[in-house]
Amino acid sequence: MALSSRLIILSNNFLNNNASSLNVISSRAGSWWSHVEMGPPDAILGVTEAFKRDTNPNKINLGVGAYRDDDGKPFVLPSVRKAEDRMRSKNLDKEYSPIGGSAQFCELSINLALGDGSEQVKNGLNATLQGISGTGALRLGGAFLAAFFPGNKEVYLPTPSWGNHTPIFKHSGLGVKQYRYYDPNTCGFDFQGALQDIAKMPERSIILLHACAHNPTGVDPSPQQWAEISKVVKQKKLFPFFDMAYQGFASGDVDKDAFALRHFVKEGHETIVTQSYAKNMGLYGERVGAFSLITSSKEEAQRTMSQLKIIVRPMYSNPPINGARIVTEILSDSSLKAEWLKDVKGMAERIISVRAQLRDNLKKEGSSRDWSHITDQIGMFCFTGLNAQQAERLTKDFSVYLTKDGRISMAGVTSKNVKYLAHAIHEVTK
Ligand SMILES: Cc1ncc(COP(=O)(O)O)c(C=O)c1O
Repeated sequence: MALSSRLIILSNNFLNNNASSLNVISSRAGSWWSHVEMGPPDAILGVTEAFKRDTNPNKINLGVGAYRDDDGKPFVLPSVRKAEDRMRSKNLDKEYSPIGGSAQFCELSINLALGDGSEQVKNGLNATLQGISGTGALRLGGAFLAAFFPGNKEVYLPTPSWGNHTPIFKHSGLGVKQYRYYDPNTCGFDFQGALQDIAKMPERSIILLHACAHNPTGVDPSPQQWAEISKVVKQKKLFPFFDMAYQGFASGDVDKDAFALRHFVKEGHETIVTQSYAKNMGLYGERVGAFSLITSSKEEAQRTMSQLKIIVRPMYSNPPINGARIVTEILSDSSLKAEWLKDVKGMAERIISVRAQLRDNLKKEGSSRDWSHITDQIGMFCFTGLNAQQAERLTKDFSVYLTKDGRISMAGVTSKNVKYLAHAIHEVTK
């Protein structure tokens, strides 16, 4: 080795050794962060980590909330691939987006939610912004309500709800309370319990409603039950906040899945709706969604829009462009939109089909339990009714990974692993 190279290595070693001894000295002298305790790992990501370490060839990960094809592989929608090809040929720039996202993207998103030709959009009653997927849109809603909601600054969540709702709203500075939703005895919707709790909420509170494919239970009210809920929400002068993270993914039909939201709007409720394109376009990592406030006048929509932009500016300045361009490409072209609607239907139908297969296979295993909730529930998740010990046994003895509440992601079930899964579930529940 040449002398100069050796000198460089020696001097690098000297610098490294010196840097590490300086680190030790600075921590001994007292660090800024010695009081920060180790936080608990994320419940769902923890399941995936444990799954990765497992060497059993039959292992199944049912913790993750992302769609998988029938080979258990991540799936990019053909319509999304086509949109990306078109974008590449356009040689687009990388300039900043406006604070609220592109106007075209916002209009296409609210039209998808409310249906083409909605009176609200025609009359300019919506304040719509691009959100950083569903989570970012929810957080923007939380910030807006914390700053401007004129009533009781408490959000009522269904029990149970998506695990991130409580932290999102608390982080926004709102109070968080619950109403009954899931009935463990029937593995279905506790309609009477929900109505009773809604009737007891202080007037002018905020109620969060999952527009469709309730996460984590997969249990949705029927259209008639939604109509009743709408009446009670109106009587109690509550503010309905719709989280619509699965439009199209639940039934395969984007209009059917928007029933609850559209019914409330038709009944004259002012509302917030947050949308996500993570599941229905498979754009998980693109972080693209939308936030809309439906107001009662155009002038109010304009005023609230100005404040929403003021909230966004210091939080993240403006949203990412790529996912929004994909969505725009798809929704603005009727033939590509039709292809996308077919892709969504295909995903929803695969999920519906593995629900039926799981139920059939449990019967074939000889299970005498009533598993009808597997096919009654809808969307990505199934609340199996398994208790924490049974869920733990499923993981320990069969390498089937799920959250302790017994929730399984139907997206992880395939025609190839469904028999093994049914056998494992029967073994821990018989
Ligand atoms: C009920 C519900 N809301 C919102 C989201 C937000 O997801 P994202 O931020 O990925 O769009 C999810 C994702 O799992 C969800 O289940």
